[in-house]
Amino acid sequence: MTTTENQANPIGFGRMLRKEDARFLRGKGNYVDDLNLPGMLHGAVLRSPYAHARIKSIDISAAQAHPKVKAVITGEILETLNLAWIPSLSHDVVAVLATDKVRFQGQEVAFVVAEDRYSARDALELIEVDYEVLPPVVDAKKALDKDAPVIRDDIAGKVDNFIFDWESGDKAATDEVFANAAIVVNQDMLYPRVHPAPMETCGAVAYMDPIDQKLTIYSTTQAPHAHRTLYALVAGLPEHKLRVVSPDIGGGFGNKVGIYPGYVLAIVGSILTKRPVKWMEDRSENLMSTSFARDYHMKGSIAASADGKILGLRVDVLADHGAFNNTAQPTKFPAGFFHVFTGSYDLMAAHCSVRGVYTNKAPGGVAYACSFRVTEAVYLVERMVDRLAQELKMDPAELRMKNLLRPEQFPYTSPTGWEYDSGEYPRALRLAMDIAGYEELRKEQAQKRAKGELMGIGISFFTETVGAGPKRHMDILGLGMADGCEVRVHPTGKAVVRLSVQSQGQGHETTFAQIVSEVTGIPPEDIDVVHGDTDNTPFGLGTYGSRSTPVSGAAAAIAARRVVDKARIVASAMLECAPEDLEWEKGRFNIKGDKSVGKTMAEIALGAHGTVELPEGVEGHLNAECVYDPPNLTYPFGAYICVVDVDPATAKVSVRRFIAVDDCGPRINPMIVEGQVHGGLADGVGMALMEVIAFDEDGNNLGASFMDYLIPTSLECPSWETGATVTPSPHHPLGLKGVGESATVGSPPAVVNAVIDALAPYGVKHADMPLTPAQVWQAMQGAPYRT
Ligand code: CDP
Repeated sequence: MTTTENQANPIGFGRMLRKEDARFLRGKGNYVDDLNLPGMLHGAVLRSPYAHARIKSIDISAAQAHPKVKAVITGEILETLNLAWIPSLSHDVVAVLATDKVRFQGQEVAFVVAEDRYSARDALELIEVDYEVLPPVVDAKKALDKDAPVIRDDIAGKVDNFIFDWESGDKAATDEVFANAAIVVNQDMLYPRVHPAPMETCGAVAYMDPIDQKLTIYSTTQAPHAHRTLYALVAGLPEHKLRVVSPDIGGGFGNKVGIYPGYVLAIVGSILTKRPVKWMEDRSENLMSTSFARDYHMKGSIAASADGKILGLRVDVLADHGAFNNTAQPTKFPAGFFHVFTGSYDLMAAHCSVRGVYTNKAPGGVAYACSFRVTEAVYLVERMVDRLAQELKMDPAELRMKNLLRPEQFPYTSPTGWEYDSGEYPRALRLAMDIAGYEELRKEQAQKRAKGELMGIGISFFTETVGAGPKRHMDILGLGMADGCEVRVHPTGKAVVRLSVQSQGQGHETTFAQIVSEVTGIPPEDIDVVHGDTDNTPFGLGTYGSRSTPVSGAAAAIAARRVVDKARIVASAMLECAPEDLEWEKGRFNIKGDKSVGKTMAEIALGAHGTVELPEGVEGHLNAECVYDPPNLTYPFGAYICVVDVDPATAKVSVRRFIAVDDCGPRINPMIVEGQVHGGLADGVGMALMEVIAFDEDGNNLGASFMDYLIPTSLECPSWETGATVTPSPHHPLGLKGVGESATVGSPPAVVNAVIDALAPYGVKHADMPLTPAQVWQAMQGAPYRT
């Protein structure tokens, strides 16, 4: 791994080893499955073997007779508690346990609670379910056929599999641009169904204390406060009788945003047995039943002038949402942020339409390491730009340079209404090309082609849109997307920072301490970060869509500034001078013009808790809080270049080099940012080359284990070459933009563009991900595209 930093800009507050690694590297993390409460029982879920079937009857008597079984729960029992269905994140409903029908393979049908995990699993086999198998809808394109079986006949009056129709942009203006353009290129493409596949699967331990009637749920959630409110609304329990604790989380990537039936079942199991109940899914359950990502069938068109000025873009999307519409996204945007699909280019007009359909597949459609469908949008535009370059016979880097937004155009309003906050796009692309030695690579490619060797160079330029809210535009089920932070400074000058966001491995315990340290001067080692416990942290919507730094990071900076403002008043009382006579030198206030007379933060903290008389109306202590409703999203961006070699005999793709220049504004901790980028690049290589959840025509899931659902290892990844430019966000208090998901968003099109570039001698224009040897081989044989 090599890193090139743009020395003109200070890029970070400082590299600092991660505080949390002291426990993670020693195997001392505390995950949900590490919890063992006294008297704890274990739950297991019986799942449907069919994609679509009517439930005629369920016989649980043999399971109930198992000596170690304490409870067997069916949908019928949940109906009596009004818990058979719960609200989805997208104003639909989700079955906790199937009552009438099963609608995807792996759907939850019954729940057994037993003395131990093995007995619970054994007893599942004693449950007899009589199914009447129904024809499944597997192909999204056939879901709207007139004779397609209706999946959601639980919805009154439903006669088809249609979910929503949504559009954005100016259709008439786009049509006009296309009618007058010198060149129009069309391309169908599929962003296949993939899975976030976190290392830790989903699980919960629920305990309803029978004495004080307080329900505690330890669960793998990225959004503990939102979960608590939803539990309160569904169960009718007051929030102070509900505590959600999210201990260490072994990766989320969007997979742990929603509430899964297993969490609810652990709760019901505890209420019925009056004992703590643990439910922890296995790998296959995670891959089969929890939120998938993508599954977007896209028809793109790009219009340009003969000399390569991009004029317009349009796309028609068919979105496969599975059996229940449970995608996690702001209410206002049924297709997430897909309409940011004009990407990083200066266009005249754009229009997109998205139709959502039900199919007999697992529900979800989460933002897997992306901000609400931005990944699909970036893939679409970056493939379309490369297709245009192909048709124009123009270098794809030159075409991008010609069309990238220029710095003076910011703040820039896109044709679909997004206001990009800041950017210096050409500088980032140039830096990536310099690190890559782009011109040399093209020469090398020409030489190899002459020898029949297949080398490809792929570029992608992406703009991300991260940090949801503002809450006037964005909510999930009516909860506005704002986040909180509380800073409390102890009398000795050490501090505790409480956050509403939830780390799943991103290193918040380190970076949020660094943010507060940067503002207050208290060393980061002296700042403890608390998160993941609704009883001990302020309310907020949690961590996904790289929103922690843009939202809670801003709240932390503002709360820390409030501490410093207060410290000035306390210091002035201690030094018997006016507050304006003091000047701030990181970590202390000095008398203006005399650095020898002053007070450090530690002294001021003691003063604030001591006997110093403060001016009237000023309360003691040095505590502050902030609820931050961001004025806009932040728009990190990046330029990626991928170099691949394709074996002409086996069609195997090897990623030889990958250059990633990211701009997320100043970096709190450049080491952590690089780690985030490395992980995201590996994600992208995986999606581009090997990951897919496929189904057979009966709706059987063909990707339900890591033998079938391939994820990349270090063997498939090159030594990443990273670089940085720094364009601060004008509205974030510290100029910070999010970065957690940038690389996952930006890298797949770079890999695909590189492979298609390598296959140019075969006249290949497009092939869908994953570009497995079989898929590449077919493309080389001129096989029709599979979308
Ligand atoms: O919401 P999430 O934590 O997944 O994403 P993020 O806000 O982009 O942050 C990911 C990690 O990178 C966190 O530890 C951040 O504090 C850190 N980061 C950073 O050091 N500098 C930035 N400009 C952005 C993020």
